[in-house]
Amino acid sequence: KSQLQWGGRFDAGPAEVMQAINASISFDSKLWRQDIAGSQAHAAMLAKQGIITHEDQAAIKAGLEAIAAEIEAGTFEFSEALEDIHTNIEVRLTARIGEAARRLHTARSRNDQVATDFRLWVRDAIDGILAQIHSLMKALAERAAEHATTVMAGFTHLQTAQPVTFGHHLLAYVEMLARDAGRLQDARTRLNECPLGAAALAGTSFPIDRHATAEALGFARPTANSLDSVSDRDFALEFLSTLSICAMHLSRFSEEIIIWCSSPYKLIELSDAFTTGSSIMPQKRNPDAAELAKAKTGRIFGALTGLLTVMKGLPMAYAKDMQEDKEPVFDAVAAISLSLAAMEGMVRDMKANKDRMEALAGSGFSTATDLADWLVRVLKMPFRDAHHTTGQLVRLAEDKNSDLSHLTLADMQSVEPRITNEIFEVLTVQASVASRVSYGGTAPANVAKQAALWLERLA
Ligand code: ARG
Repeated sequence: KSQLQWGGRFDAGPAEVMQAINASISFDSKLWRQDIAGSQAHAAMLAKQGIITHEDQAAIKAGLEAIAAEIEAGTFEFSEALEDIHTNIEVRLTARIGEAARRLHTARSRNDQVATDFRLWVRDAIDGILAQIHSLMKALAERAAEHATTVMAGFTHLQTAQPVTFGHHLLAYVEMLARDAGRLQDARTRLNECPLGAAALAGTSFPIDRHATAEALGFARPTANSLDSVSDRDFALEFLSTLSICAMHLSRFSEEIIIWCSSPYKLIELSDAFTTGSSIMPQKRNPDAAELAKAKTGRIFGALTGLLTVMKGLPMAYAKDMQEDKEPVFDAVAAISLSLAAMEGMVRDMKANKDRMEALAGSGFSTATDLADWLVRVLKMPFRDAHHTTGQLVRLAEDKNSDLSHLTLADMQSVEPRITNEIFEVLTVQASVASRVSYGGTAPANVAKQAALWLERLA
């Protein structure tokens, strides 16, 4: 007789290739903890409802605990012939405790079982990633506090735009990561309903207590519709969407680190701990961790696209297509987790070249807006006129191969006679950043306050 639970109406076993394409144990063994937790909750509920005896439940409980210890110790033999983690554990339980194990699957199907296991796994993954995001945010806020007054070039179109502070730049990523964390929390809340007890697709005739199993497994409530329960993978998709947005943020940051480290910029340095050399070019120091954190985004977006494609056009309820939900999620979690850790390492490691930052911040007529603002404030010029006059001054400076602060007063007055010496006070990068005191602006005072606020929230 077939060992497989569904062997009753079959004479022969599956073809080798059938087994190869059908089996999921090579990857879903990752769900063993969740599978055992789900079975424990289910068995306890069955006993409480009088569906199985308390003796059977006690045997199941001890048997599952022993199996958990075997898996933990690495002595459990996973078998491809037994398809998946659910069957592997149930067959082992039967070998250990006999008859009682064969009652465990009452009022349950692998369809609601796997949906439950996977939700539990994703829920744990969310908690792990939230902790990593939190830790990265903290590293960023610490570095931001340290660099609240460090002036660096702010860019638009990757062209020098206006001076900003390095701390302000780092805190921008704290804001992004805070939204990522918020999205993960939201996804967790929506995910936190228990499909167990939906059985194959229609519910069950046994007097089960789905509220009890939901509670035992830490879910807020049971899912409301049995068809939806076994065929919904929104929770995985929402999770992957959130990871995709987070990975996009990490990828933008990675690219900035790569640019900042590049020879022409040299705004930051990464130490030996976070760079690699070249086997031929002895001078090289490459930011590989940033490059890989950026590239891992491909896997994460791919996981989302892949699972969306698996799910599209799938009629209700369960179909084996859905077994393809796990690997992309596992892979995306491994990728984001490594990227977050590497990013935190780089943030803690990087050294700012303050002189280079300040020099670049002052290049490219970056205080032109400050000059225009002065014309508005002091000469009461309309901003549009001030913009035009400043444009003429920039042109003059360009012609003289000078920057704005090195023009003479006579040069200035050749364009606008009312300009006085006072104007030179606003043309330094320090004066520029110090003036940006509007809420959310880059002024060192603002940045120090924001960094402190974040450190307090993250403590
Ligand atoms: N290994 C399966 C999966 O991952 C478990 C559910 C199997 N259910 C079924 N009716 N064949 O989706």
